[in-house]
Amino acid sequence: MPTVMPIFGTRPEAIKMAPIVAALQESDLFDCVVTVTGQHREMLDQVNDLFGIVPDHDLNILQQRQSLSAIMTRTIDGLDKLFTDNKPDAVIVQGDTTTSTAGAIAAFYHGIPVVHVEAGLRSGDLFSPFPEEANRKLTSQLASLHLAPTSVSKANLLAEGVNPKDVVVTGNTVIDALLTTVGKQIPFTDPRLEGLAEAGQQILLVTTHRRENQGGAMRGMGRALARIADSEPNLVIVLPVHKNPAVREAVLPALEGKTNVIVTEPLPYGEFTRMLSLAHVVLTDSGGVQEEAPSLGKPVLVMRENTERPEAVHAGTVALIGTDEDRIVKEVDRLLHDRAFYDSMAQAVNPYGDGLAATRTVAALASILGLGERIEEFAAPHSA
Ligand code: UD1
Ligand code: UDP
Repeated sequence: MPTVMPIFGTRPEAIKMAPIVAALQESDLFDCVVTVTGQHREMLDQVNDLFGIVPDHDLNILQQRQSLSAIMTRTIDGLDKLFTDNKPDAVIVQGDTTTSTAGAIAAFYHGIPVVHVEAGLRSGDLFSPFPEEANRKLTSQLASLHLAPTSVSKANLLAEGVNPKDVVVTGNTVIDALLTTVGKQIPFTDPRLEGLAEAGQQILLVTTHRRENQGGAMRGMGRALARIADSEPNLVIVLPVHKNPAVREAVLPALEGKTNVIVTEPLPYGEFTRMLSLAHVVLTDSGGVQEEAPSLGKPVLVMRENTERPEAVHAGTVALIGTDEDRIVKEVDRLLHDRAFYDSMAQAVNPYGDGLAATRTVAALASILGLGERIEEFAAPHSA
């Protein structure tokens, strides 16, 4: 039986790989050997705990304030040693993190076929998001099978000359993860959040972490949130703050003493999806949150200049607003006070998946290994 090795290291990769690990473990066609790099630690472990994933190998590479080169070299070095003793028949990498590109490079050097999940996303700007746009383009050069979440991402790959027979549109596994988690009404560990839920409080949910936003742009986000907190006393801003010290140093100082701002540690995925379903508006620079919130009918303001996820922008539930402090304040104000505009954005749409992406992923894998037929691809409905 062929051995397939999912390799992942950060929170979003774990969330998006978890449905694939479950589907591989259920399949009688493959042995599944899970390797984590440990690029993240607490934020990775909290996802693995939720989905019951116990890694077979853990490279444990995290360093505080790690450089991109350190993540790359420590991952390649760890995988090089691992593949020498344990050579899988295929590896699966997800998305655009440095773990994922390093995993593809190390596998390629060992002659191991690379399956790329969430392939073909492109912002069109090599430097934004940084380094993710470069990471995913590099991985596309090395992959044998490209699992595109949508027809837009498939078209990007074909435009770059990838052979159509090597591309399958699966939908995004984040929607599988969301649909199996969000309905569970998982209690909040933090009593302040449980209190908000009970009171039916209006919530602005905020996340930020992108490297290109750290420093000046992120300090501006902190000031924008402080101004919104002052002008909207009935609104509560919930900010589960990323573990990265550079994020905390930039965004938190302006929020000190604001009684309607709740800063928490990163929320476990079950709690975060519940908070998403309670939120009135979402303000973020996250990739995964841009995919999940539209599915729940939540308007999303994206604090970036561009996106590799245009589908929900076209559907009207996501708006790109950049990182300018005044613009953030203005756009949040408009969503809070222009009811017709709010309603036009608060439409549940599912351009990213239907909950079956992991099943299609495993079927596509079986197909390239000669163990099954080619499957029907995911086609996005116009609205949910
Ligand atoms: C990484 C990915 C990014 C992804 C993001 C998801 C790269 C280059 N970046 O960015 O694509 O969107 O994860 O969150 O692959 N830290 C901890 N504990 C944790 C996690 C992080 O202490 O569990 C701290 C460490 O000081 C670490 C720093 O955060 O050095 C940054 O982590 P890193 O993985 O380098 O970058 P992210 O910004 O998290
Ligand atoms: N998320 C979470 N807890 C949090 C914040 C986010 O579980 O406190 C989840 C969120 O639902 C999404 C994923 O983390 O699935 C997004 O991760 P992140 O924003 O760190 O990375 P990106 O998607 O931008 O790569």
